Amino acid sequence: MSHVPPTTTNSGAPVASDAHALSVGADGPIALHDHYLVEKLAQFNRERVPERVVHAKGGGAFGTFTVTNDVSAYTRAAVFQPGTTTEMLARFSTVAGEQGSPDTWRDPRGFALKFYTTEGNYDLVGNNTPVFFIRDGIKFPDFIHSQKRLPGSHLRDNDMQWDFWTLSPESAHQVTWLMGDRGIPATWRNMDGFGSHTYQWINAAGERFWVKYHFKTQQGIENMPAEVAAQLAGSDADHHIRDLHEHIEAGDFPRWTLSVQVMPYADAAEYRFNPFDLTKVWPHGDYPLIEVGVMELNRNPENYFAQIEQATFAPSNFVPGIAASPDKMLLARIFSYADAHRYRVGTNHAQLPVNAPQSPVHSYSQDGAARYTFSSATTPVYAPNSVGGPAADPARAGEGGWESDGALVRTAATLHPEDDDFGQAGTLYREVFDDAARARFLDTITGHVGGVKRSDVRERAIQYWTNVDAGLGQALRERLTALDAPVETGDPGTASVPVA
Ligand code: HEM
Repeated sequence: MSHVPPTTTNSGAPVASDAHALSVGADGPIALHDHYLVEKLAQFNRERVPERVVHAKGGGAFGTFTVTNDVSAYTRAAVFQPGTTTEMLARFSTVAGEQGSPDTWRDPRGFALKFYTTEGNYDLVGNNTPVFFIRDGIKFPDFIHSQKRLPGSHLRDNDMQWDFWTLSPESAHQVTWLMGDRGIPATWRNMDGFGSHTYQWINAAGERFWVKYHFKTQQGIENMPAEVAAQLAGSDADHHIRDLHEHIEAGDFPRWTLSVQVMPYADAAEYRFNPFDLTKVWPHGDYPLIEVGVMELNRNPENYFAQIEQATFAPSNFVPGIAASPDKMLLARIFSYADAHRYRVGTNHAQLPVNAPQSPVHSYSQDGAARYTFSSATTPVYAPNSVGGPAADPARAGEGGWESDGALVRTAATLHPEDDDFGQAGTLYREVFDDAARARFLDTITGHVGGVKRSDVRERAIQYWTNVDAGLGQALRERLTALDAPVETGDPGTASVPVA
């Protein structure tokens, strides 16, 4: 028999039995001083941390990002300098489903990236869609509530989904995306990723640019028919996790090419729509793609909980040369994620190996639960100090800013001629979808709106799609009228399950 190490307590002492608690006689009561039994049960009770409030179901892998082009004219970020290869982590997810929910439900997919750069961690927390449902972060909790479950029945509900969407017409572009073929990717390997927001890049001379990130899959776009997705939801709920894991295990490493659209800083004011509006894409004719590099995922996590569940991706994790933009959604997110991480994983989450930067940390933050790393005893604990402690770099004081002045208000600017809700949704439906895709799209929205019970919400949904395209609205009305009662048709995978 081969030698096996002894089971130990968490403190490292060998234990006497894996199978029997200490008892008073073979059939007697168990003793409270069986510390190992108590430790084992108590540890088990604490195995879970709260699941992510959104994007709870997901999986990921490690890899590298290699720069293939020279974009140093636009950013001085170390991670994007010619010849640089950077270690990274990616996590993919669905949005509304809880942990354990099927990977193949119709939903946007999260596309969260962490680059371990030489100047700190850079996190790009995007989706597989270039736009989003809302343009002001104050609506985010309401939006997510409408996509999750009714408080009483704990069931998902088409009425509240369509009630929210139709009362938030800025959602039309993203809902068109979601109900289209790309709403269910075949695998995570076969989808594109987007930073979605407009970000700011700053070059070595201090010049500023607005950028949008596009990760194009080198595996090719492949989507999953709704019927297949519905079947897999029952037979293989972890289909996408399995696919990624097996391909990496087999040495078939998925790759994405990163390109960016770059808008000169001054163009923003006069552009035809607000370039910081997350419900809009920038036409490539206006701002063509510029290649940056290639991301390859080539290493599976060794422990899902330690390296994926406890991974913390935050849009606030910028590095020199990359900064925020005036996008109100992005600015709300910059608060939200780090706060979620302190709650979900703990105040010292950034010290866990998966989250720790591979560059030095010289912070005046200290202590807190489960503190693991610390400075030497001679490092001062306050700034300013006169004993050689770390000091901030005044040269960075102006980096990442933009001009802003005005009264404090609660309105959205509509200063640009094309600041509308429905225009780009109509373009996607008429010019990007082909006839077959449009037919499937009508099937899908008929199934979803058909699941709405309230007639006023249904009527608003028909008007919503009429605003996207008059012919589409008419066709939807005819299809719904042909149904005797609100029944679920068209998209069996999602008519009574989450759609966001
Ligand atoms: C996860 C908030 C919009 C992509 C999360 C989490 C929160 C959150 C609290 C859980 C974080 C955690 O526990 O680790 C918000 C708020 C938003 C917003 C307040 C709007 C103001 C967006 C947008 C995108 C996005 C627009 C994509 C463009 C993601 C992704 C994750 C996530 C990919 C999962 C990250 C991971 O894999 O750990 N969001 N979100 N979110 N969000 Fe958002």
